[in-house]
Amino acid sequence: MSTSRPSDARPTPPKWRRRALIALAVVLLGCVLAGVLFWWKFLKTEDQAFTADPETAASADLQRFKYGTLGGDLIAGIPYPILFILPRVFPDKIGEGGGYGAFGLPWEPGQRLPMGFSIKRKGFERVTVNCALCHTTQYRLVPGENPRFAVGGPGHTVDIQRLLRFLFACAHDERFTADRLLPEMALHFPMDAADVALYKMVLIPGMRAALLEAERQLAWMDKRPDWGPGRDDAFGLPKFVLTQADDDGTLSTTDFPSLWKLGQRKGGLFQAGGEATELSTVVATSALGTGALPGPGFDRHNDWTEAFIQDLAPPPFPGQTDPARAAEGSSVFARHCAGCHAIGGERTGTSIPLAEIGTDPEHVKTWQEKDARRMKKVGAALGVKEAPMIAATGYVAKPLVGVWLLGPYLHNGSVPTLMDLLAPPHERPRIFWRGYDLVDQDRVGFVSSGPETEKAGFRYDTGLRGNGNRGHEWGTDLQPEQKLALIDYLKGL
Ligand code: HEC
Ligand code: HEC
Repeated sequence: MSTSRPSDARPTPPKWRRRALIALAVVLLGCVLAGVLFWWKFLKTEDQAFTADPETAASADLQRFKYGTLGGDLIAGIPYPILFILPRVFPDKIGEGGGYGAFGLPWEPGQRLPMGFSIKRKGFERVTVNCALCHTTQYRLVPGENPRFAVGGPGHTVDIQRLLRFLFACAHDERFTADRLLPEMALHFPMDAADVALYKMVLIPGMRAALLEAERQLAWMDKRPDWGPGRDDAFGLPKFVLTQADDDGTLSTTDFPSLWKLGQRKGGLFQAGGEATELSTVVATSALGTGALPGPGFDRHNDWTEAFIQDLAPPPFPGQTDPARAAEGSSVFARHCAGCHAIGGERTGTSIPLAEIGTDPEHVKTWQEKDARRMKKVGAALGVKEAPMIAATGYVAKPLVGVWLLGPYLHNGSVPTLMDLLAPPHERPRIFWRGYDLVDQDRVGFVSSGPETEKAGFRYDTGLRGNGNRGHEWGTDLQPEQKLALIDYLKGL
């Protein structure tokens, strides 16, 4: 066998080789440029600088809780410019009030988005939600004043379902096209040719498709009574979306609770139905709900969140209380309530069986053994290392913290004021309005009737499934003056 070259494989003429090399270089350069452009427009990260009060670590932490990302930006991040212009293009789908303010979101003056929304640039500015969205209370003490905010309190004004339905309605509209949205975006955001191409070919159609898919995943919620402000279907969401369970008709419309002083609840149960034995379980599953996915960043964010909410405290009751009457109330509390609601109480932090508590049973029925088992499997598959959620057996007796801002009361928010909770169930309001932010300092809770309330609030019908206001009859047979004393004491908790 000859080792010499075949005679027809002559060396390539130098001219051709040079041309091929140049072509290769051009292609490579093109690839590099495309890569840089991709990185620049899709991935380049700018860390958030929290604008207000950067001096102290405490205020930086507070800003992070209100506006920081939980890490879901890459997958779940919504392009900020699209979100920004939707109410301008589709005002007809919001109704009175116009912008995102119509959804009761806690919006501080001077901020680009309400609390609970994070903006992080990864290529383009991506918006995700965080814990403050549902866990910040907006309130006013007198009509006409600017809203105040209690971080970590129940977001009783926030109407998540209405916000979702607005976004879904936009996605269905024929105006949701690049031709209609891009000119509006260009009025507010600088855009180069690459941005225009990116929005036209990827982001606008992508967002539309994502919204329509989300609507499909949440179709079950339209077969149940509306959540209204301050609530969501706390266990329907993981059950029907995360674990993809078949619709068995269950529902668990649950108030957004407060995250105050959770550190003092060690050893007790969490969630209304006692579905979690560890705070870290709730933090991890809540983070999943915002689109964050397990990985190193996931644990880092969750550890920070858990540490932050350990000692979070409510603002003190702002009105007058009579110290002598509150002292009398303290002994009523010790006799009738402390066993379930004081720190160290015999049953505090435990689940009180349905038969004994007697409140609306739907939430408990939603999360049974089989549901907990499915969730355990999904959690393990996703790589969640926290303890799994367990079946609900009744409702948890929680220590009472910041009670004056927790209205409407009970897990489903079915009783507007403390005074109503101390009345026998048949005397509690059957219809009232929730989501109005004016504090009722006498009956304690939020004002829940009257023309202003009806305009701003959501009509709550206790006759609908999941909205029942019966049960929890402790204290209902106290004398009127004992009730007033007890309420004065509760204001201080
Ligand atoms: C879309 C609204 C929403 C968001 C966002 C949200 N939560 Fe919640 N959260 C709820 C609801 C509703 C409940 C009540 C569930 C229950 O009690 O069964 C709840 C319950 C909790 C509880 C249990 C409180 C208790 O008293 O047992 C904790 C802790 C908690 N959330 C932490 C978080 C953290 C941390 C985040 C962010 C990672 C977060 N939540 C994000 C709606 C939300
Ligand atoms: C046997 C235990 C038990 C006793 C005694 C008890 N409670 Fe409760 N309480 C609970 C449970 C459990 C819940 C949650 C029920 C639900 O959400 O369906 C609750 C809920 C509440 C809430 C609503 C908290 C919120 O975030 O909405 C208030 C307020 C309250 N109790 C006050 C009292 C007062 C005042 C007394 C004494 C007169 C009292 N409770 C006695 C077990 C008890």
